Amino acid sequence: MKRETKLVRAGGKPEERFGIVNPPVYRASTVLFPTVADFERRQERKYTGFFYGIQGTPTTFMLTEALAELSGAHRAVVTSSGCSAITQALLAFLKQGDHLLVVDSVYGPTRAFCQRVLARFGVETTFYDPHAGEQIAELIRPTTRVVYGESPGSQTFEIQDMPAIARAAHGHGAVVFFDNTWATPLNFRAFDHGVDIEVQAATKYLGGHSDLLMGVIAARNEELFRTVKDGLDELGDYVSPDLCYATLRGMRTLAVRLRHQERSALEVARWLVGRPEVARVLHPALPEDPGHALWKRDFLGSSSLFGMVLHTNSDRAVADMLDGLTLFKMGASFGGFESLILPARPERTVRPRTDRGALLRLHVGLEAVDDLIADLEGGFARLNAALAG
Ligand SMILES: Cc1ncc(COP(=O)(O)O)c(C=O)c1O
Repeated sequence: MKRETKLVRAGGKPEERFGIVNPPVYRASTVLFPTVADFERRQERKYTGFFYGIQGTPTTFMLTEALAELSGAHRAVVTSSGCSAITQALLAFLKQGDHLLVVDSVYGPTRAFCQRVLARFGVETTFYDPHAGEQIAELIRPTTRVVYGESPGSQTFEIQDMPAIARAAHGHGAVVFFDNTWATPLNFRAFDHGVDIEVQAATKYLGGHSDLLMGVIAARNEELFRTVKDGLDELGDYVSPDLCYATLRGMRTLAVRLRHQERSALEVARWLVGRPEVARVLHPALPEDPGHALWKRDFLGSSSLFGMVLHTNSDRAVADMLDGLTLFKMGASFGGFESLILPARPERTVRPRTDRGALLRLHVGLEAVDDLIADLEGGFARLNAALAG
């Protein structure tokens, strides 16, 4: 079955719920047991079911089954946000004295968690160049427990050679983590490229409607899954079944939304390449992008989040440009139906940015491309007026 079909069918069987297409929302804290003996054996359900609401209900499991199927994972769990999926997965695997390798272009809060929280608990992080490829081996120590990639990089969109990084990591017994929020499992098959633990913010394309937060942790095999599950149980995170329902509903249209947004984003990106105000467009699906060859080799498509570097670095002119936009709104996140734009200020320690102009991050939604281009055209007119004034 193709993934588009799985997205529509995965997660429960209508014939087992009176023919109703969508799953019921089971809400629970207390779960009852018929006998003392059953209650005493509740821990046996730890990895396969639930015995208290915090572990989820059948609604949660319909979603996690669908998520595992989409990713080609052994099994998956959900967490209260994309950020909590990252932090809880890392905590599940790391202990005092461990070393962690994290890509320099990682999502900002992941970097902050490593530097501020893991460091306090005696876990040392080394950030690596997104272009490291197999040379990452030089950074691996006997204590390196996890290698953490994200591709393309947050805000700067570098593509990493994940198969080469995973080979080096596995050669030293490290576990390979990958944040697959940008591509989603539709466009990057993390487990086919050596990843052991895939994390995603379902908040973005999976939910797809800018109205929920959720994280996903998907594991390659049962042993890795159990490590994740043990870690989660101890931290007490919780996801409501109502949100599981909403995410499953969002996933039904993921393929069609993502393909549409991918095409629109490429049209906007190509138009930006021809604009005199733009020094560079950061989008790995553009042939001139430095990451294009690797992207073409490993990815099945792109998404609708990309960057552009302007020639100017005037904050005032950029503010005039952005403040007057009517369709591209300013706000954090991406993956919803609406277009967004933000000034980006990535923190980099290994490979500092060399572009001198302002960096903007764009998310293309489901609006008509002509309208989006007209909005940006108005923005450039205001930018030029501010620079001339
Ligand atoms: C690449 C990436 N991973 C994870 C997250 C965290 O997701 P959430 O907002 O659900 O915590 C984000 C959020 O922007 C992100 O961009």
